[in-house]
Amino acid sequence: MTLKDTLIAKAESREALFGIIGLGYVGLPLAVELAKAGFKVLGYDISQRVVDGINAGRSHIKDINDAELAAVVSQGLLSATTDAARLAEPDAISICVPTPLSKFKDPDMSYIQAATDVVARTLRVGQVIILESTTYPGTTREVVLPALEKTGLKVGQDFFLSFSPERVDPGNATYHTRNTPKVVGGITDACRDVTIALYGPAIDTLVPVKTTEAAELVKLLENTFRSVNIGLANEMAIVCDKLGVDVWDVIEAAATKPFGYMKFLPGPGLGGHCIPIDPHYLAWKMRGLNYKTRFIDVAGEVNTEMPVFWVRKVADALNRRSRAVNGAKVLVLGVAYKRDIDDIRESPALDIIHLLEQRGAIVSFHDPHISTYRDEEGHARESVPLEAATLAASDCVIIITDHTSIDWPMVKAHAPLVVDTRNVLSKVQ
Ligand SMILES: NC(=O)c1ccc[n+]([C@@H]2O[C@H](COP(=O)([O-])OP(=O)(O)OC[C@H]3O[C@@H](n4cnc5c(N)ncnc54)[C@H](O)[C@@H]3O)[C@@H](O)[C@H]2O)c1
Repeated sequence: MTLKDTLIAKAESREALFGIIGLGYVGLPLAVELAKAGFKVLGYDISQRVVDGINAGRSHIKDINDAELAAVVSQGLLSATTDAARLAEPDAISICVPTPLSKFKDPDMSYIQAATDVVARTLRVGQVIILESTTYPGTTREVVLPALEKTGLKVGQDFFLSFSPERVDPGNATYHTRNTPKVVGGITDACRDVTIALYGPAIDTLVPVKTTEAAELVKLLENTFRSVNIGLANEMAIVCDKLGVDVWDVIEAAATKPFGYMKFLPGPGLGGHCIPIDPHYLAWKMRGLNYKTRFIDVAGEVNTEMPVFWVRKVADALNRRSRAVNGAKVLVLGVAYKRDIDDIRESPALDIIHLLEQRGAIVSFHDPHISTYRDEEGHARESVPLEAATLAASDCVIIITDHTSIDWPMVKAHAPLVVDTRNVLSKVQ
C-alpha cells in the first residue's frame, strides 16, 4: 500500500489522529467537528489559558457551547496541549494561527512562520500538513514548503502539504463548519486527495482546486468581493445622504430585482479579523508584482472613512438641537463588529468612540455580548446597563451593532435622538 492509500484508509476508519495548531475562532470549531466525526484530535496552542479551558470542557468561542465541547473532551476524542513535541503524534495537522497586518498594513507572517517551524521540528514520514490561515497566494509553496523540506523529507512522497481556507462565519446560525463547503488545493495531486479524504468524514462538501495558490486566492476573492460590495453600499449611503434620499429605501427596492443584483448593506465601517484585513494580503502581493489592485484600494478607503461619516451625522443631529458634540452625552449601542457576536477586533465602534471623544463627547456604551474591553490607551471600559433612564439621559444614541437581544422598542421609546447606522429602528413599530 502506498503512503497515500494508507492515509486514506486511516481517514475512512477514523484511525487517523488529527492535530490542530491554534485553537481560536477557526481552530476550535474545526477540532470539535473532526472529533464529532469520530477522529481523535490533539489541539496545540501557545496559550495555557486556552488549553486549560478546553481540557476542562470550557469553550472560549461563542459558536461552540460548553456542552458540545465537554462531550467530545469527556469521550477522549479531543484534548489540548502546549507541548509542541507532541506534534510528532498526529497523522494530519491543520494550522489555524492568526494572520494579522503589521503596523504598515503588510502581511504579518510571524505566526505562520512560528507554526511551520514547530511542525518542521517533529515532521515525520506520513504526515499531512494543511494550512488554514488566510494568506496571500504563494504562502504554502514559498514559505511553508521550503521550511518543511529542509528536514530532508520530500513533499508528495514522504509528507503531504495542502491549503484549505477556513470559511467560518461567527454567529451564523445556518452555516457552520460541517455544512459550509471547503476548498482544498494541494502542492501535488496526492496532497489534495489525501486532505480531501481526511476532511471528508467531518465536512459535507469538499471542493478541489488545481493548486495551493488557487485555494489561497479563493479565500481572498471571497473577502475582497465582500469588501468591495460593502464599499459600494457605503458609498451609496454617502450619495443618498447628499441627495436627501433614504438609502435603505433604495437598497430594499433594488433587492427586489430577481436577477443581476445582490443585496449588501451600508454600516458603520468594516470590522472583524477578515474583511478589513484579507484584501491587504492580496494588494501587498500584487504590489510586489508591480500591479495596483484598484478595487481593493478604493473599497478600503471608502470603508475606513465610514466612522468619520457617522460621527459627522452625530454632530449634525446634535446641531439641529442646538447642541455641540463637546460635552454631549453619547450612548453607543453595540461595540462588537457585527450582530450577536462578542468580537471587537477591528470594530468600527472603537474608531467612532475615539473620534467622538476627540471632539469632547462623553461616551458610554452598552453591548449585551461585551461587558468590558480595553481601549487603545489600555483603559478598561465597561458596558452600562440598558435602561429607559439611561437612554433618556443621553443627548444622542448611536446604534453601531444591531444585536437581536437589545430591546429596540425601548430604545425607540426613550432615546431623545438616535443615529442609526444599521437602520434597526425603522423596523420597530
Ligand atoms: N475569525 C474568523 O471569522 C475567520 C474566518 C475565516 C478565516 N479566518 C482566518 O483563520 C486564521 C485564524 O484566525 P482566528 O480568528 O481563529 O484567530 P484567533 O486569534 O481566534 O485564534 C488563534 C489561536 O492561535 C494561537 N496561536 C498563536 N500563535 C500560535 C503558535 N505559534 N502556535 C500555536 N498556537 C498559536 C492563539 O493563542 C489563538 O488561540 C486567520 O488566518 C484568520 O484570518 C478567521
